[in-house]
Amino acid sequence: MNKTAIIIDTDPGQDDAVAILTALGSSRLEVVGISVVAGNVPLELTAKNVRIICEWAGRPEVPVHAGCERPLLRPLVTAEHVHGKTGLDGVPLHEPAMPLQQEHAVDFIIRTLRERERGTVTLCMLGPLTNLAMAIVRAPDIVGRIREIVLMGGAYFEGGNITPSAEFNIYVDPHAAATVLACGAAAITMLPLDVTHKATASLARIGLLRALPNRAGNLAADIMTTLERFDVQRYGADGAPLHDPTVIAYVLQPELFSGRKVYVAVEQNSELTLGATPVDWWGITGKPANVNYLTTVDSDGFFRLLADNLSTLP
Ligand code: RIB
Ligand code: CA
Repeated sequence: MNKTAIIIDTDPGQDDAVAILTALGSSRLEVVGISVVAGNVPLELTAKNVRIICEWAGRPEVPVHAGCERPLLRPLVTAEHVHGKTGLDGVPLHEPAMPLQQEHAVDFIIRTLRERERGTVTLCMLGPLTNLAMAIVRAPDIVGRIREIVLMGGAYFEGGNITPSAEFNIYVDPHAAATVLACGAAAITMLPLDVTHKATASLARIGLLRALPNRAGNLAADIMTTLERFDVQRYGADGAPLHDPTVIAYVLQPELFSGRKVYVAVEQNSELTLGATPVDWWGITGKPANVNYLTTVDSDGFFRLLADNLSTLP
């Protein structure tokens, strides 16, 4: 069976960890490599956490490339208040043995897209878009070689989570996000808070993972239980929204989701609404659609997909 080749760009981050484990557990994905960015916690920690996660999955051979330490223009904003000081609070962490690759993440993204057949690599973006924006600026030729950019980010109907109007990944690097959304790639799919807030890790759904007989299932359940602490206090929700794993789920089973092709831009100047992603849902601007903006998900089907793929891991 032909596998879908993906690069995961990430800032783990508890939900990133569940996304990466899900991808590594899938027999249908070839994880060509993982590029790391500063976001939830500084780069030194996100680069360490990715290797911890790969070793949890029994996959120390996956190439991990450290990338940008800060956004294109803005100072780095992190989210320890959600993910803890380590970025992976709630589960025991070990010192990873696997090394970082010498090659910078931006060079890895460019090289991979140039080496692989045109239109065969999907970019799964789980954090601020700094690495990809740098790659596009440095090597514009790669845009036409991307199969699809699938990114967790943005918010419109749901409101923001780091400010009233902005979602964290976009807010941290709004200039990178604007560069990516305007790059002209053949397919850009956004999984905003409008859809991830419907993919909540309720106790029953966490129980699906807790029931798995392996360590990965229970690690994911422990991580979701820790994420619960922050989100239920804030949202009073039926469990924490599970943001990043929706990217992997979309690549594997797009029919779980629905949305609309629309024009989306990014606020890059206003202090009040920096990082906001206004969505031209009714086509008022007349500007051509640049993203497939997803707003619904079959949440139970999503958690079944997580359990199925996590169940294959150690
Ligand atoms: O707003 C949610 C996003 O910000 C997720 O990717 C989470 O990991 C944080 O990076
Ligand atoms: Ca993330």
